[in-house]
Amino acid sequence: MATDHGQLTTDKGHSFSMKVAITGAAGLFGHGLVSAFAARHDVVPLTRAEADITNQDAVRGVLEKIRPDVVVHPAGSPDLDFCEANPAAGYAMNVHGTRFIVEAARELGAAVAYISTDAVFDGQKQTPYVESDPPHPTTVYGRTKWRAEQAVANLPHHWIFRVSVLFGPGKTNFVEKVLRKVAAREEPVVAADQMGSATYTLDAGQKIMEVVEGRRYGLYHLSNSGPCSRLELARHAAELAGLDASRVIGKPAEEMGRRARRLKYAVMEMRALKEAGFELPRSWQDALAHYVRSLALSAPTLMGA
Ligand SMILES: NC(=O)c1ccc[n+]([C@@H]2O[C@H](COP(=O)([O-])OP(=O)(O)OC[C@H]3O[C@@H](n4cnc5c(N)ncnc54)[C@H](OP(=O)(O)O)[C@@H]3O)[C@@H](O)[C@H]2O)c1
Repeated sequence: MATDHGQLTTDKGHSFSMKVAITGAAGLFGHGLVSAFAARHDVVPLTRAEADITNQDAVRGVLEKIRPDVVVHPAGSPDLDFCEANPAAGYAMNVHGTRFIVEAARELGAAVAYISTDAVFDGQKQTPYVESDPPHPTTVYGRTKWRAEQAVANLPHHWIFRVSVLFGPGKTNFVEKVLRKVAAREEPVVAADQMGSATYTLDAGQKIMEVVEGRRYGLYHLSNSGPCSRLELARHAAELAGLDASRVIGKPAEEMGRRARRLKYAVMEMRALKEAGFELPRSWQDALAHYVRSLALSAPTLMGA
């Protein structure tokens, strides 16, 4: 339970707040995670300037100084095409970087909350993926994230959160790029045949904090509720912004000339969250409406009318 001071109280009435180091703090999800955890905990945001995660000494040095209770770790490359073209760099950031964090956390007795992805699956299923489905990544990016998950899973106290199609404040993202193009009377082309789960960074940050505070360790699928295609997400955002949604053009993903193969079906069911008794995040439509309203305040030129 939260007190007036934003701290938590245990069932015995004692308050506690954790020391939480958050990697990738300048990134898209890093922003959402820092803003969620900072409301109740002692947060140390880590950017590349504080520690290059591919440098083991730098990672150990910075975490030894902070001595966190928990390291929340979204840092790495989320770029499928970059990883496909540069597998060594993708492995260095996503796999080795994560291993260095895991090793430092083990030495310090800290828990790790790792941010993973639906790209650990192969997209062949016709029904939503659950946490017990075996991963079978089909891209370099997916393989790096799966290897990183395995490293994290060796720690006694860990969480793995698989998220998908992030949008939120702090850094340009898929939704904002589409809105900028439509507002400029361009015709953005997006995949019409990529079905997945969209994730608002502020909602996911809040849910991760709840799970971490509850010490419910394990593997979780986490997104906003309800499946959507990239095209639905983009057009709905344009409508919410009062723009002409028909300017968003849908195409099959494989005609878009991308290096890494995209998954046609990557919808995730949040079974573990449900089974642990957590309320599921709101629908992607409600989350998107919240985000587009906030964009209207910060970047009114993106809006129609
Ligand atoms: N974006 C999505 O739609 C999506 C979907 C599913 C899963 N995910 C996962 O979510 C996580 C966060 O994604 P995101 O979209 O927030 O990515 P992002 O905006 O690119 O943020 C990643 C952050 O990691 C930092 N970083 C990269 N290499 C580093 C290094 N060697 N040392 C220290 N910091 C480093 C980057 O620092 P710089 O700012 O200095 O480059 C960046 O701030 C990723 O693990 C990704 O796999 C993302």
